[in-house]
Amino acid sequence: MTEALALELVAIEKSFGGVHALRGADLGARPGEILGLCGENGAGKSTILKVLSGVHPATSYKGTVRVRGREQRFMTTRDAEHAGIAIVHQELMLVPELSVGANLVLGRENKGGSLLGNIDDDAIEATARKLLAKFGVEGDIDPLVPVGTLGIGLQQVVEIVRALSQDAKILILDEPTAALTGKETDRLMEWLRGLREGGTTCIYVSHRMDEIFTICDRITVLRDGKTVGTVPAKPTSPDEVVSMMVGHAVGGKGVRATALEGARAEAQHELVVNELTVRLPGIAIESGGDDRVRTDAVHEISLTVRPGEVVAVCGAMGSGRTALLSTLFGCAEHGFTGSVRVSGKEVVLRSPRDAIAAGIALIPEDRKGRGLVLGMSVSDNLTLPPPKSRVARTLEWLGIVDEEEEELLAARRIKELRIRGAANAEVATLSGGNQQKVVIGKWLEDPPAVLLLDEPTRGVDVGAREEIYGLLAELGNKGTAILLASSDLPEVLRLAHRILVLRHGRIVAELDGRTSGEEDIVKIATGATDVVKTEVTAITNSASTRLEQAWQ
Ligand SMILES: Nc1ncnc2c1ncn2[C@@H]1O[C@H](COP(=O)(O)OP(=O)(O)OP(=O)(O)O)[C@@H](O)[C@H]1O
Ligand SMILES: [Mg+2]
Repeated sequence: MTEALALELVAIEKSFGGVHALRGADLGARPGEILGLCGENGAGKSTILKVLSGVHPATSYKGTVRVRGREQRFMTTRDAEHAGIAIVHQELMLVPELSVGANLVLGRENKGGSLLGNIDDDAIEATARKLLAKFGVEGDIDPLVPVGTLGIGLQQVVEIVRALSQDAKILILDEPTAALTGKETDRLMEWLRGLREGGTTCIYVSHRMDEIFTICDRITVLRDGKTVGTVPAKPTSPDEVVSMMVGHAVGGKGVRATALEGARAEAQHELVVNELTVRLPGIAIESGGDDRVRTDAVHEISLTVRPGEVVAVCGAMGSGRTALLSTLFGCAEHGFTGSVRVSGKEVVLRSPRDAIAAGIALIPEDRKGRGLVLGMSVSDNLTLPPPKSRVARTLEWLGIVDEEEEELLAARRIKELRIRGAANAEVATLSGGNQQKVVIGKWLEDPPAVLLLDEPTRGVDVGAREEIYGLLAELGNKGTAILLASSDLPEVLRLAHRILVLRHGRIVAELDGRTSGEEDIVKIATGATDVVKTEVTAITNSASTRLEQAWQ
Protein backbone atom coordinates (compact mmCIF):
# COMPACT_ATOMS: atom_id res chain seq x y z
CA MET A 1 0.00 0.00 0.00
CA THR A 2 2.83 2.39 -0.63
CA GLU A 3 1.16 4.29 -3.38
CA ALA A 4 3.00 7.43 -4.41
CA LEU A 5 0.94 10.47 -3.53
CA ALA A 6 1.14 13.67 -5.49
CA LEU A 7 0.45 15.58 -2.35
CA GLU A 8 -0.11 14.83 1.28
CA LEU A 9 -1.11 16.93 4.25
CA VAL A 10 -0.80 15.25 7.61
CA ALA A 11 -2.22 16.28 11.00
CA ILE A 12 -2.64 19.92 10.09
CA GLU A 13 -3.61 22.23 12.92
CA LYS A 14 -4.36 25.86 12.35
CA SER A 15 -5.90 28.50 14.61
CA PHE A 16 -7.00 32.06 14.11
CA GLY A 17 -6.91 33.61 17.55
CA GLY A 18 -9.37 31.47 19.48
CA VAL A 19 -10.85 29.78 16.40
CA HIS A 20 -9.47 26.29 15.75
CA ALA A 21 -10.10 26.10 12.04
CA LEU A 22 -8.14 22.86 11.59
CA ARG A 23 -7.67 20.31 14.37
CA GLY A 24 -5.66 17.54 12.82
CA ALA A 25 -6.85 17.41 9.23
CA ASP A 26 -5.37 15.01 6.67
CA LEU A 27 -5.56 15.06 2.92
CA GLY A 28 -3.87 12.98 0.24
CA ALA A 29 -4.25 12.87 -3.53
CA ARG A 30 -2.73 10.70 -6.23
CA PRO A 31 -1.27 11.78 -9.55
CA GLY A 32 -3.95 12.00 -12.22
CA GLU A 33 -6.73 12.10 -9.68
CA ILE A 34 -9.53 14.55 -9.04
CA LEU A 35 -10.16 14.61 -5.32
CA GLY A 36 -13.39 16.17 -4.12
CA LEU A 37 -13.26 18.06 -0.84
CA CYS A 38 -16.56 18.41 0.98
CA GLY A 39 -17.70 19.81 4.29
CA GLU A 40 -20.19 22.22 5.79
CA ASN A 41 -19.57 25.95 5.77
CA GLY A 42 -16.69 26.64 8.11
CA ALA A 43 -15.45 23.02 8.16
CA GLY A 44 -11.98 24.18 7.14
CA LYS A 45 -11.84 23.44 3.42
CA SER A 46 -10.49 26.80 2.29
CA THR A 47 -8.10 26.91 5.23
CA ILE A 48 -6.43 23.58 4.43
CA LEU A 49 -6.13 24.60 0.79
CA LYS A 50 -4.52 27.87 1.84
CA VAL A 51 -2.00 25.84 3.82
CA LEU A 52 -1.24 23.79 0.72
CA SER A 53 -0.91 26.84 -1.50
CA GLY A 54 1.33 28.87 0.77
CA VAL A 55 -1.23 31.53 1.72
CA HIS A 56 -0.77 30.51 5.36
CA PRO A 57 3.00 30.36 5.89
CA ALA A 58 4.56 27.19 7.30
CA THR A 59 5.29 28.93 10.59
CA SER A 60 1.59 29.56 11.21
CA TYR A 61 0.34 25.97 11.43
CA LYS A 62 1.34 22.57 12.77
CA GLY A 63 1.63 19.43 10.68
CA THR A 64 3.38 18.23 7.56
CA VAL A 65 2.94 19.09 3.89
CA ARG A 66 4.50 16.78 1.30
CA VAL A 67 4.51 17.31 -2.44
CA ARG A 68 5.53 14.29 -4.53
CA GLY A 69 7.02 12.75 -1.40
CA ARG A 70 9.14 15.77 -0.39
CA GLU A 71 8.34 17.73 2.71
CA GLN A 72 7.66 21.35 1.93
CA ARG A 73 7.53 24.42 4.11
CA PHE A 74 5.97 27.09 1.93
CA MET A 75 6.31 30.59 3.28
CA THR A 76 4.57 32.35 0.38
CA THR A 77 2.25 31.56 -2.50
CA ARG A 78 5.25 32.02 -4.79
CA ASP A 79 6.97 29.06 -3.07
CA ALA A 80 3.94 26.89 -3.73
CA GLU A 81 3.77 28.05 -7.35
CA HIS A 82 7.38 27.03 -7.83
CA ALA A 83 6.46 23.59 -6.53
CA GLY A 84 3.83 23.39 -9.28
CA ILE A 85 0.72 24.31 -7.31
CA ALA A 86 -1.94 26.62 -8.74
CA ILE A 87 -5.10 27.68 -6.95
CA VAL A 88 -8.43 29.22 -7.86
CA HIS A 89 -9.53 30.87 -4.65
CA GLN A 90 -13.10 30.88 -3.45
CA GLU A 91 -13.06 34.67 -3.34
CA LEU A 92 -11.82 36.38 -6.46
CA MET A 93 -8.21 37.49 -6.31
CA LEU A 94 -8.01 39.53 -9.47
CA VAL A 95 -6.79 43.12 -9.62
CA PRO A 96 -10.01 44.89 -10.68
CA GLU A 97 -8.37 47.97 -12.20
CA LEU A 98 -6.04 45.98 -14.44
CA SER A 99 -7.16 44.65 -17.80
CA VAL A 100 -8.26 41.07 -18.28
CA GLY A 101 -5.06 40.55 -20.26
CA ALA A 102 -2.80 41.90 -17.55
CA ASN A 103 -4.55 39.79 -14.94
CA LEU A 104 -4.11 36.68 -17.04
CA VAL A 105 -0.52 37.31 -17.89
CA LEU A 106 0.50 38.52 -14.43
CA GLY A 107 0.33 35.02 -13.01
CA ARG A 108 2.33 33.40 -15.78
CA GLU A 109 4.91 36.12 -15.73
CA ASN A 110 5.75 35.71 -12.11
CA LYS A 111 7.11 32.31 -12.98
CA GLY A 112 9.61 33.61 -15.46
CA GLY A 113 10.59 36.35 -13.06
CA SER A 114 10.37 39.06 -15.67
CA LEU A 115 8.59 42.30 -15.02
CA LEU A 116 5.24 43.13 -16.47
CA GLY A 117 6.76 46.29 -17.90
CA ASN A 118 9.01 44.27 -20.16
CA ILE A 119 6.13 42.83 -22.06
CA ASP A 120 4.36 45.13 -24.43
CA ASP A 121 0.62 45.52 -24.50
CA ASP A 122 0.28 43.75 -27.82
CA ALA A 123 2.02 40.67 -26.49
CA ILE A 124 -0.20 40.67 -23.40
CA GLU A 125 -3.27 41.00 -25.55
CA ALA A 126 -2.18 38.23 -27.91
CA THR A 127 -1.38 35.83 -25.07
CA ALA A 128 -4.62 36.67 -23.31
CA ARG A 129 -6.64 36.08 -26.47
CA LYS A 130 -5.01 32.71 -26.93
CA LEU A 131 -5.79 31.67 -23.36
CA LEU A 132 -9.39 32.86 -23.57
CA ALA A 133 -9.82 31.02 -26.85
CA LYS A 134 -8.57 27.83 -25.24
CA PHE A 135 -11.49 28.08 -22.86
CA GLY A 136 -13.84 29.10 -25.67
CA VAL A 137 -14.70 32.48 -24.14
CA GLU A 138 -12.84 34.77 -26.53
CA GLY A 139 -16.16 36.10 -27.79
CA ASP A 140 -17.48 36.86 -24.30
CA ILE A 141 -14.47 38.53 -22.74
CA ASP A 142 -12.51 41.46 -24.16
CA PRO A 143 -8.89 41.20 -22.93
CA LEU A 144 -8.54 44.98 -22.95
CA VAL A 145 -11.28 45.93 -20.48
CA PRO A 146 -10.52 46.28 -16.75
CA VAL A 147 -11.43 42.96 -15.18
CA GLY A 148 -13.49 44.71 -12.50
CA THR A 149 -16.03 45.80 -15.11
CA LEU A 150 -16.95 42.21 -15.93
CA GLY A 151 -19.77 40.44 -14.13
CA ILE A 152 -18.83 38.10 -11.30
CA GLY A 153 -19.31 35.01 -13.47
CA LEU A 154 -16.94 36.16 -16.17
CA GLN A 155 -14.42 37.29 -13.54
CA GLN A 156 -14.51 33.77 -12.22
CA VAL A 157 -13.85 32.46 -15.71
CA VAL A 158 -10.80 34.74 -15.93
CA GLU A 159 -9.56 33.47 -12.58
CA ILE A 160 -9.96 29.86 -13.73
CA VAL A 161 -8.27 30.50 -17.05
CA ARG A 162 -5.38 32.10 -15.19
CA ALA A 163 -4.88 29.10 -12.92
CA LEU A 164 -5.27 26.61 -15.75
CA SER A 165 -2.73 28.45 -17.85
CA GLN A 166 -0.01 27.92 -15.27
CA ASP A 167 0.48 24.29 -16.35
CA ALA A 168 0.54 23.30 -12.70
CA LYS A 169 1.06 19.73 -11.55
CA ILE A 170 -1.41 20.31 -8.74
CA LEU A 171 -4.48 22.38 -9.37
CA ILE A 172 -6.70 23.50 -6.51
CA LEU A 173 -10.21 24.72 -7.26
CA ASP A 174 -12.08 26.19 -4.28
CA GLU A 175 -15.71 26.40 -5.39
CA PRO A 176 -14.78 27.30 -8.95
CA THR A 177 -18.27 27.08 -10.37
CA ALA A 178 -20.15 29.11 -7.78
CA ALA A 179 -20.76 31.93 -10.25
CA LEU A 180 -20.71 29.91 -13.45
CA THR A 181 -23.65 28.85 -15.55
CA GLY A 182 -24.08 25.36 -16.95
CA LYS A 183 -22.17 26.02 -20.14
CA GLU A 184 -19.02 27.28 -18.45
CA THR A 185 -19.22 24.52 -15.85
CA ASP A 186 -19.37 21.88 -18.57
CA ARG A 187 -16.35 23.42 -20.24
CA LEU A 188 -14.43 23.39 -16.99
CA MET A 189 -15.31 19.73 -16.43
CA GLU A 190 -14.11 18.88 -19.91
CA TRP A 191 -10.85 20.66 -19.29
CA LEU A 192 -10.33 18.95 -15.94
CA ARG A 193 -10.84 15.54 -17.52
CA GLY A 194 -8.14 16.40 -20.03
CA LEU A 195 -5.77 17.48 -17.27
CA ARG A 196 -6.46 14.28 -15.36
CA GLU A 197 -5.47 12.26 -18.37
CA GLY A 198 -2.23 14.23 -18.50
CA GLY A 199 -1.48 13.28 -14.89
CA THR A 200 -2.40 16.53 -13.14
CA THR A 201 -3.81 16.23 -9.63
CA CYS A 202 -6.88 18.34 -8.88
CA ILE A 203 -8.55 19.17 -5.63
CA TYR A 204 -12.10 20.23 -6.19
CA VAL A 205 -14.25 21.94 -3.57
CA SER A 206 -17.96 22.31 -4.18
CA HIS A 207 -21.24 22.31 -2.34
CA ARG A 208 -22.91 20.99 -5.46
CA MET A 209 -23.08 17.24 -5.03
CA ASP A 210 -23.96 16.64 -8.67
CA GLU A 211 -20.67 18.24 -9.71
CA ILE A 212 -18.66 16.37 -7.12
CA PHE A 213 -20.07 13.07 -8.31
CA THR A 214 -19.67 13.95 -11.97
CA ILE A 215 -16.02 14.82 -11.86
CA CYS A 216 -14.32 13.36 -8.77
CA ASP A 217 -12.58 10.03 -8.34
CA ARG A 218 -12.50 10.10 -4.56
CA ILE A 219 -14.01 12.42 -1.96
CA THR A 220 -12.51 13.60 1.30
CA VAL A 221 -14.89 14.97 3.92
CA LEU A 222 -13.95 17.51 6.58
CA ARG A 223 -16.00 18.24 9.66
CA ASP A 224 -15.10 20.76 12.34
CA GLY A 225 -11.53 21.00 11.12
CA LYS A 226 -10.93 17.25 11.09
CA THR A 227 -10.91 14.71 8.29
CA VAL A 228 -13.86 12.37 8.66
CA GLY A 229 -12.77 10.07 5.87
CA THR A 230 -12.08 9.56 2.20
CA VAL A 231 -14.38 7.51 0.00
CA PRO A 232 -14.31 6.46 -3.64
CA ALA A 233 -16.98 8.34 -5.61
CA LYS A 234 -18.23 5.30 -7.48
CA PRO A 235 -20.20 3.16 -5.06
CA THR A 236 -20.84 6.07 -2.68
CA SER A 237 -24.09 8.06 -2.76
CA PRO A 238 -24.47 11.81 -2.26
CA ASP A 239 -26.55 11.14 0.85
CA GLU A 240 -23.67 9.18 2.35
CA VAL A 241 -21.29 12.08 1.77
CA VAL A 242 -23.76 14.55 3.27
CA SER A 243 -24.13 12.25 6.30
CA MET A 244 -20.37 12.32 6.74
CA MET A 245 -20.43 16.11 6.48
CA VAL A 246 -23.12 16.68 9.08
CA GLY A 247 -22.23 13.77 11.33
CA HIS A 248 -25.57 12.00 11.26
CA ALA A 249 -27.67 10.10 8.78
CA VAL A 250 -29.68 12.02 6.25
CA GLY A 251 -32.13 10.69 3.74
CA GLY A 252 -34.52 11.66 1.04
CA LYS A 253 -34.97 14.99 -0.59
CA GLY A 254 -36.09 18.05 1.27
CA VAL A 255 -39.67 19.08 0.75
CA ARG A 256 -40.41 21.39 -2.08
CA ALA A 257 -41.10 24.90 -0.92
CA THR A 258 -44.78 24.61 -1.66
CA ALA A 259 -45.46 26.59 1.47
CA LEU A 260 -45.09 29.69 -0.63
CA GLU A 261 -48.76 30.06 -1.47
CA GLY A 262 -50.02 33.53 -2.10
CA ALA A 263 -53.42 32.65 -0.71
CA ARG A 264 -51.99 32.11 2.76
CA ALA A 265 -50.01 35.29 2.79
CA GLU A 266 -50.49 37.59 5.77
CA ALA A 267 -49.81 40.77 3.84
CA GLN A 268 -50.47 41.43 0.19
CA HIS A 269 -47.38 42.82 -1.42
CA GLU A 270 -47.01 42.80 -5.14
CA LEU A 271 -44.33 43.81 -7.59
CA VAL A 272 -45.40 45.01 -11.01
CA VAL A 273 -42.77 45.94 -13.57
CA ASN A 274 -43.93 47.50 -16.77
CA GLU A 275 -41.86 47.84 -19.95
CA LEU A 276 -38.56 48.18 -18.16
CA THR A 277 -35.61 49.00 -20.38
CA VAL A 278 -32.11 49.44 -18.99
CA ARG A 279 -29.29 50.72 -21.12
CA LEU A 280 -25.96 48.94 -21.26
CA PRO A 281 -23.22 51.22 -19.98
CA GLY A 282 -21.03 53.05 -22.45
CA ILE A 283 -22.60 51.83 -25.65
CA ALA A 284 -23.47 54.28 -28.36
CA ILE A 285 -27.00 53.78 -29.50
CA GLU A 286 -26.58 53.55 -33.23
CA SER A 287 -28.16 50.38 -34.28
CA GLY A 288 -28.36 51.59 -37.87
CA GLY A 289 -31.51 49.62 -38.43
CA ASP A 290 -29.88 46.37 -37.38
CA ASP A 291 -31.83 45.26 -34.35
CA ARG A 292 -29.20 42.68 -33.55
CA VAL A 293 -26.90 45.35 -32.17
CA ARG A 294 -27.33 45.12 -28.42
CA THR A 295 -27.90 48.42 -26.76
CA ASP A 296 -29.98 47.36 -23.79
CA ALA A 297 -29.04 45.25 -20.81
CA VAL A 298 -32.72 44.69 -20.23
CA HIS A 299 -35.31 45.32 -22.91
CA GLU A 300 -38.98 46.10 -22.32
CA ILE A 301 -39.44 43.66 -19.51
CA SER A 302 -42.88 43.42 -17.96
CA LEU A 303 -43.53 41.09 -15.08
CA THR A 304 -45.64 40.64 -11.99
CA VAL A 305 -44.75 38.92 -8.75
CA ARG A 306 -47.81 38.29 -6.62
CA PRO A 307 -47.90 38.23 -2.83
CA GLY A 308 -46.08 35.18 -1.50
CA GLU A 309 -45.01 34.15 -4.95
CA VAL A 310 -41.50 33.20 -5.98
CA VAL A 311 -40.71 34.12 -9.56
CA ALA A 312 -37.33 33.03 -10.87
CA VAL A 313 -35.44 34.67 -13.69
CA CYS A 314 -33.11 32.33 -15.54
CA GLY A 315 -30.73 32.96 -18.35
CA ALA A 316 -27.18 32.60 -19.51
CA MET A 317 -24.41 34.85 -18.31
CA GLY A 318 -25.02 38.38 -19.52
CA SER A 319 -28.68 37.71 -20.23
CA GLY A 320 -29.68 40.61 -18.01
CA ARG A 321 -30.55 38.94 -14.71
CA THR A 322 -28.30 41.03 -12.56
CA ALA A 323 -29.09 44.23 -14.49
CA LEU A 324 -32.80 43.62 -13.89
CA LEU A 325 -32.36 43.07 -10.17
CA SER A 326 -29.98 45.91 -9.56
CA THR A 327 -32.23 48.31 -11.47
CA LEU A 328 -35.13 47.31 -9.26
CA PHE A 329 -32.89 48.09 -6.30
CA GLY A 330 -32.20 51.60 -7.59
CA CYS A 331 -28.73 50.88 -8.94
CA ALA A 332 -29.19 51.56 -12.66
CA GLU A 333 -26.19 53.75 -13.34
CA HIS A 334 -27.35 54.78 -16.76
CA GLY A 335 -31.00 55.18 -16.01
CA PHE A 336 -33.95 53.20 -17.22
CA THR A 337 -37.35 53.65 -18.74
CA GLY A 338 -40.56 51.97 -17.73
CA SER A 339 -42.40 51.87 -14.45
CA VAL A 340 -42.30 49.86 -11.24
CA ARG A 341 -45.15 49.50 -8.77
CA VAL A 342 -44.93 47.98 -5.31
CA SER A 343 -48.20 47.02 -3.62
CA GLY A 344 -50.07 49.19 -6.10
CA LYS A 345 -47.99 52.32 -5.67
CA GLU A 346 -45.65 53.58 -8.35
CA VAL A 347 -42.13 53.94 -6.94
CA VAL A 348 -39.17 56.12 -7.81
CA LEU A 349 -35.92 54.14 -7.95
CA ARG A 350 -33.00 56.53 -8.18
CA SER A 351 -30.96 54.93 -5.43
CA PRO A 352 -30.93 51.94 -3.07
CA ARG A 353 -32.29 54.33 -0.46
CA ASP A 354 -35.38 54.87 -2.63
CA ALA A 355 -35.69 51.11 -3.07
CA ILE A 356 -35.45 50.38 0.63
CA ALA A 357 -37.98 53.12 1.37
CA ALA A 358 -40.33 51.42 -1.12
CA GLY A 359 -39.95 48.15 0.76
CA ILE A 360 -37.56 46.52 -1.70
CA ALA A 361 -34.62 44.49 -0.39
CA LEU A 362 -31.77 43.03 -2.40
CA ILE A 363 -29.51 40.13 -1.59
CA PRO A 364 -26.83 40.85 -4.16
CA GLU A 365 -24.70 38.57 -6.26
CA ASP A 366 -21.51 40.18 -5.13
CA ARG A 367 -21.66 39.73 -1.37
CA LYS A 368 -18.16 40.93 -0.77
CA GLY A 369 -18.59 44.16 -2.71
CA ARG A 370 -22.17 45.09 -1.95
CA GLY A 371 -23.74 42.72 0.53
CA LEU A 372 -21.53 43.22 3.53
CA VAL A 373 -19.41 45.72 5.33
CA LEU A 374 -16.38 43.48 5.68
CA GLY A 375 -14.61 45.47 8.35
CA MET A 376 -17.64 45.43 10.62
CA SER A 377 -18.70 42.71 12.99
CA VAL A 378 -21.20 39.96 12.28
CA SER A 379 -23.64 41.51 14.69
CA ASP A 380 -23.39 45.00 13.17
CA ASN A 381 -23.89 43.58 9.69
CA LEU A 382 -26.95 41.62 10.81
CA THR A 383 -28.58 44.72 12.23
CA LEU A 384 -27.53 47.04 9.44
CA PRO A 385 -30.73 47.77 7.49
CA PRO A 386 -32.71 50.68 8.86
CA PRO A 387 -35.33 49.51 11.33
CA LYS A 388 -38.77 50.14 9.94
CA SER A 389 -40.78 51.55 12.81
CA ARG A 390 -40.89 55.30 12.82
CA VAL A 391 -39.91 55.49 16.47
CA ALA A 392 -36.88 53.32 15.87
CA ARG A 393 -35.98 55.36 12.81
CA THR A 394 -36.25 58.62 14.70
CA LEU A 395 -34.17 57.24 17.52
CA GLU A 396 -31.58 56.10 15.06
CA TRP A 397 -31.61 59.51 13.40
CA LEU A 398 -30.90 60.99 16.80
CA GLY A 399 -28.05 58.57 17.18
CA ILE A 400 -29.81 56.51 19.82
CA VAL A 401 -29.51 52.84 19.00
CA ASP A 402 -30.76 50.20 21.35
CA GLU A 403 -27.56 48.22 21.48
CA GLU A 404 -28.89 45.60 23.81
CA GLU A 405 -31.78 44.88 21.49
CA GLU A 406 -29.46 44.72 18.50
CA GLU A 407 -27.21 42.29 20.32
CA LEU A 408 -30.14 40.04 21.18
CA LEU A 409 -31.36 40.14 17.61
CA ALA A 410 -27.91 39.31 16.26
CA ALA A 411 -27.52 36.43 18.69
CA ARG A 412 -30.90 35.02 17.66
CA ARG A 413 -30.04 35.20 13.97
CA ILE A 414 -26.65 33.59 14.49
CA LYS A 415 -28.39 30.70 16.20
CA GLU A 416 -31.24 30.40 13.71
CA LEU A 417 -29.02 30.45 10.66
CA ARG A 418 -26.32 28.46 12.42
CA ILE A 419 -23.72 31.05 11.50
CA ARG A 420 -20.28 29.82 12.47
CA GLY A 421 -18.62 32.90 13.84
CA ALA A 422 -18.86 35.03 16.96
CA ALA A 423 -21.17 38.05 17.02
CA ASN A 424 -18.20 40.36 17.46
CA ALA A 425 -16.00 38.70 14.81
CA GLU A 426 -15.22 40.72 11.71
CA VAL A 427 -17.37 39.48 8.85
CA ALA A 428 -14.29 39.29 6.62
CA THR A 429 -12.95 36.41 8.74
CA LEU A 430 -16.01 34.18 8.26
CA SER A 431 -16.01 31.36 5.77
CA GLY A 432 -17.68 32.15 2.44
CA GLY A 433 -20.93 30.35 3.16
CA ASN A 434 -21.28 31.92 6.57
CA GLN A 435 -20.84 35.37 5.05
CA GLN A 436 -23.77 34.64 2.76
CA LYS A 437 -25.94 33.66 5.71
CA VAL A 438 -25.17 37.03 7.29
CA VAL A 439 -26.22 38.79 4.07
CA ILE A 440 -29.58 37.04 4.09
CA GLY A 441 -30.05 37.20 7.82
CA LYS A 442 -29.92 40.96 7.88
CA TRP A 443 -33.19 41.31 5.96
CA LEU A 444 -35.28 38.95 8.00
CA GLU A 445 -36.37 41.10 10.90
CA ASP A 446 -38.69 43.40 9.01
CA PRO A 447 -39.92 41.39 6.06
CA PRO A 448 -39.63 43.55 2.96
CA ALA A 449 -42.54 43.95 0.53
CA VAL A 450 -40.31 42.76 -2.28
CA LEU A 451 -37.24 40.61 -1.90
CA LEU A 452 -34.78 40.40 -4.76
CA LEU A 453 -32.29 37.55 -4.53
CA ASP A 454 -29.30 37.20 -6.84
CA GLU A 455 -27.67 33.77 -6.49
CA PRO A 456 -28.66 33.53 -2.82
CA THR A 457 -27.13 30.17 -1.98
CA ARG A 458 -23.90 30.37 -3.91
CA GLY A 459 -21.27 28.73 -1.74
CA VAL A 460 -23.78 27.82 0.95
CA ASP A 461 -23.67 24.24 2.22
CA VAL A 462 -26.53 21.78 1.90
CA GLY A 463 -27.79 22.18 5.45
CA ALA A 464 -27.70 25.96 5.45
CA ARG A 465 -29.35 25.97 2.05
CA GLU A 466 -32.35 24.17 3.56
CA GLU A 467 -32.43 26.73 6.35
CA ILE A 468 -32.42 29.55 3.84
CA TYR A 469 -35.19 27.92 1.79
CA GLY A 470 -37.20 27.63 4.99
CA LEU A 471 -36.66 31.32 5.69
CA LEU A 472 -37.81 32.21 2.20
CA ALA A 473 -40.96 30.15 2.70
CA GLU A 474 -41.54 32.08 5.92
CA LEU A 475 -41.17 35.38 4.10
CA GLY A 476 -43.53 34.15 1.39
CA ASN A 477 -46.15 33.33 3.98
CA LYS A 478 -45.79 36.82 5.30
CA GLY A 479 -46.74 38.11 1.87
CA THR A 480 -43.37 39.17 0.49
CA ALA A 481 -43.12 39.04 -3.29
CA ILE A 482 -39.88 37.23 -4.15
CA LEU A 483 -37.91 37.64 -7.36
CA LEU A 484 -35.05 35.17 -7.60
CA ALA A 485 -32.16 35.07 -10.04
CA SER A 486 -30.27 31.82 -9.82
CA SER A 487 -28.18 29.68 -12.10
CA ASP A 488 -28.69 26.73 -9.78
CA LEU A 489 -31.47 25.04 -11.70
CA PRO A 490 -32.48 22.46 -9.08
CA GLU A 491 -32.89 25.41 -6.72
CA VAL A 492 -35.01 27.30 -9.24
CA LEU A 493 -37.24 24.30 -9.87
CA ARG A 494 -37.68 23.75 -6.18
CA LEU A 495 -38.51 27.30 -5.17
CA ALA A 496 -40.13 29.00 -8.10
CA HIS A 497 -43.81 29.09 -8.85
CA ARG A 498 -43.06 30.62 -12.21
CA ILE A 499 -39.85 30.84 -14.22
CA LEU A 500 -39.08 33.63 -16.64
CA VAL A 501 -36.36 32.82 -19.12
CA LEU A 502 -34.22 35.74 -20.23
CA ARG A 503 -32.18 35.88 -23.37
CA HIS A 504 -30.26 38.96 -24.45
CA GLY A 505 -32.20 41.09 -22.00
CA ARG A 506 -35.66 39.97 -23.08
CA ILE A 507 -38.13 37.58 -21.55
CA VAL A 508 -38.46 34.80 -24.08
CA ALA A 509 -40.61 32.38 -22.14
CA GLU A 510 -42.55 31.82 -18.98
CA LEU A 511 -42.57 28.32 -17.53
CA ASP A 512 -44.45 26.65 -14.71
CA GLY A 513 -42.01 25.95 -11.87
CA ARG A 514 -43.77 22.74 -10.95
CA THR A 515 -44.01 21.02 -14.27
CA SER A 516 -40.85 22.15 -16.04
CA GLY A 517 -37.49 20.43 -16.04
CA GLU A 518 -33.92 21.68 -16.13
CA GLU A 519 -33.70 20.87 -19.80
CA ASP A 520 -36.65 23.08 -20.68
CA ILE A 521 -34.91 26.06 -19.10
CA VAL A 522 -31.50 25.37 -20.59
CA LYS A 523 -32.82 24.84 -24.08
CA ILE A 524 -34.69 28.12 -24.08
CA ALA A 525 -32.01 30.11 -22.29
CA THR A 526 -29.30 29.06 -24.70
CA GLY A 527 -31.48 29.35 -27.76
CA ALA A 528 -30.88 25.69 -28.54
CA THR A 529 -34.51 25.28 -29.43
CA ASP A 530 -36.83 27.62 -31.15
CA VAL A 531 -39.08 28.86 -28.42
CA VAL A 532 -42.00 29.29 -30.68
CA LYS A 533 -42.95 25.71 -31.38
CA THR A 534 -41.70 22.95 -29.13
CA GLU A 535 -41.65 24.85 -25.89
CA VAL A 536 -45.25 25.91 -26.04
CA THR A 537 -46.23 22.63 -24.43
CA ALA A 538 -44.01 23.41 -21.48
CA ILE A 539 -45.29 26.92 -21.20
CA THR A 540 -48.19 27.08 -18.87
CA ASN A 541 -49.83 30.33 -19.55
CA SER A 542 -49.40 31.07 -23.18
CA ALA A 543 -51.44 34.23 -22.95
CA SER A 544 -48.86 35.82 -20.71
CA THR A 545 -45.94 34.32 -22.52
CA ARG A 546 -43.83 36.72 -24.45
CA LEU A 547 -42.11 35.00 -27.29
CA GLU A 548 -39.01 36.37 -28.72
CA GLN A 549 -39.63 37.75 -32.14
CA ALA A 550 -37.10 40.34 -33.09
CA TRP A 551 -34.15 38.41 -31.77
CA GLN A 552 -32.51 35.59 -33.72
N1 LIG B 1 -8.45 34.79 8.44
C1 LIG B 1 -9.25 34.25 9.35
N2 LIG B 1 -9.39 34.82 10.57
C2 LIG B 1 -10.21 34.27 11.50
N3 LIG B 1 -10.92 33.15 11.32
C3 LIG B 1 -10.83 32.52 10.14
C4 LIG B 1 -9.98 33.05 9.08
N4 LIG B 1 -10.09 32.22 8.02
C5 LIG B 1 -10.94 31.23 8.38
N5 LIG B 1 -11.38 31.41 9.65
C6 LIG B 1 -12.31 30.52 10.37
O1 LIG B 1 -11.89 29.19 10.20
C7 LIG B 1 -13.01 28.32 10.05
C8 LIG B 1 -12.86 27.53 8.76
O2 LIG B 1 -13.04 28.41 7.67
P1 LIG B 1 -12.90 27.98 6.14
O3 LIG B 1 -12.95 29.22 5.35
O4 LIG B 1 -11.71 27.10 5.98
O5 LIG B 1 -14.23 27.11 5.93
P2 LIG B 1 -14.77 26.42 4.60
O6 LIG B 1 -14.87 24.95 4.89
O7 LIG B 1 -13.97 26.82 3.45
O8 LIG B 1 -16.27 26.98 4.53
P3 LIG B 1 -17.15 27.49 3.26
O9 LIG B 1 -17.83 26.29 2.72
O10 LIG B 1 -18.14 28.40 3.88
O11 LIG B 1 -16.24 28.15 2.31
C9 LIG B 1 -14.24 29.20 10.13
O12 LIG B 1 -14.74 29.14 11.43
C10 LIG B 1 -13.72 30.58 9.80
O13 LIG B 1 -14.51 31.57 10.40
MG1 LIG C 1 -14.35 27.94 1.80
